Amino acid sequence: MSLKPYFSIIQLTGHMQMDNFTSFDSYISSAAVIQPVTLDNFQISDSYINVLLFITFNNLRNNDFTNANITNVDGNQTNNYYGSDGPSSQANLINPSYNRKLLQTSATPAVPNIFKGREELVEQGVNILCQQGPRFLAILGAGGMGKTSLALHIMNAPSVKDKFAGRCYFIPCELFEDAESLVQGLIHVMELTMQENQSKQKILFDHLQSAQGDLLIVFDNFKTPWNHGDSRINVKNLLEKIAQYGKVSLIVTMQGPDGPGDIPWEKLGDKSGVPTLAPVPAKQAFKAFAGNNLQSSDDSESQIDSLLYQLDHVPLAIKLSAQHVKRVPLKALIRMWEKDKVSILKEEGTKPGRLTSVSFSIDISIKIFKIEGRTLDLLSFLSFLPDGIPFWLECLDQIFPGEGLSSNVSTLLDSSLIYGQNEGLKMLAPVREHIHLKYPIGQNDIDQLERFYTQFLENLPSNNMLAQRLLQPHINNIDKIFEVQITRGANSWEANCLASWQEAC
Ligand SMILES: Nc1ncnc2c1ncn2[C@@H]1O[C@H](COP(=O)(O)OP(=O)(O)OP(=O)(O)O)[C@@H](O)[C@H]1O
Ligand SMILES: [Mg+2]
Repeated sequence: MSLKPYFSIIQLTGHMQMDNFTSFDSYISSAAVIQPVTLDNFQISDSYINVLLFITFNNLRNNDFTNANITNVDGNQTNNYYGSDGPSSQANLINPSYNRKLLQTSATPAVPNIFKGREELVEQGVNILCQQGPRFLAILGAGGMGKTSLALHIMNAPSVKDKFAGRCYFIPCELFEDAESLVQGLIHVMELTMQENQSKQKILFDHLQSAQGDLLIVFDNFKTPWNHGDSRINVKNLLEKIAQYGKVSLIVTMQGPDGPGDIPWEKLGDKSGVPTLAPVPAKQAFKAFAGNNLQSSDDSESQIDSLLYQLDHVPLAIKLSAQHVKRVPLKALIRMWEKDKVSILKEEGTKPGRLTSVSFSIDISIKIFKIEGRTLDLLSFLSFLPDGIPFWLECLDQIFPGEGLSSNVSTLLDSSLIYGQNEGLKMLAPVREHIHLKYPIGQNDIDQLERFYTQFLENLPSNNMLAQRLLQPHINNIDKIFEVQITRGANSWEANCLASWQEAC
């Protein structure tokens, strides 16, 4: 992703109230630039654009960068950054800091109105948090599955509000790359006053120590600081220290099968975290998002069912697809999905971001979890297989030979781009379609797959029942591999194989 940050060292000469300017651009251009800096001569991780403006102040107070338009790593536009700590009387170099207004007023997203089929999970989460003493709740799972929405609903439940009585803090962690900036974010959200010669950590910890009652911190989207560069050790240390204060309860939302650090997390959902929606609430959500635009016809119910089934009932995909119903009839939408797949899973007219485009959300995960080389090949490989890899522990190294496979698998599981189910590795349909399109499987891997399944079929036991049981989890994969190879013009043995296979089905 190429980010074009605003970055200058500028001299602000006082009286430059932001209110007098219509945009951050005009504000900056009115300041005397004493040392423009470009990204050509400055190395900075493009994951972090929060740290891009160093300002020398001269008699400057009360400036408020309210309209700065900066896009963060997740492609979400946020309103403003920087400068809230205020300058000292001398010209100084301000370290990056987050504008208090941003964090206080717009950091906590609104609780989503349309939220179907999660009553049980909300109740479980509320019950966990409302038990006495500090509680640690991990809301895990794939992108767009509704983790943040779930956290917001739990956080806003009356009994949670009662227990934490105004001491609930929501930290949007996609803005923070390391322990230091997380501490800074917490200090801002908690409105703690900075004191001279006191470290930020001490200010935070003193506050947690002297809290008047139970306190809840929601670390939303923790994958960013957790997976950034080499900052994990400090982030882990910080989180574990925070968890040791007797009054502090935590909610963390992140992709991956496990909560961060050595903290006794209680997890919501199943082994892979928050599950997909059940068909009935998925349909309710689709209809609610589509609103009046949905014209009912004799077969519209079954068309919706079919579309949602093909989307694997993933909430983000449901929401994004439902929005098209404003413009195109349901039937056409289904045809668009069959033809163009994930390209329909984005919001029209908005900049792509994590919550407006399924493809964007998946690409961010690929980047943050540093999925490349053979791990990316494995991901492409899995996207080719409608049944995933059944019984992967037994067959992965035959089906996809290579070194260090278990580490590849664990990186992919951590990213939640794949998940484990019944001893197999699987992928949700929106992820599968995007990966398949963007990172198609290589011909060598297809050939290997074909060899594997040819052997597999030859070795099937003669006992029909037994053979059937072994075949069942692979049926769609076998269908696909032979279909693809035949289309490619493979040999007559394979053609026969496919013919007898299709006959058997
Ligand atoms: N149960 C639900 N019913 C209807 N819509 C939902 C539901 N859960 C989530 N959504 C919608 O799906 C979208 C994604 O939800 P959310 O942001 O909570 O997912 P997430 O798991 O936190 O994603 P990410 O991993 O990218 O942070 C949002 O637009 C949300 O409103
Ligand atoms: Mg989220």
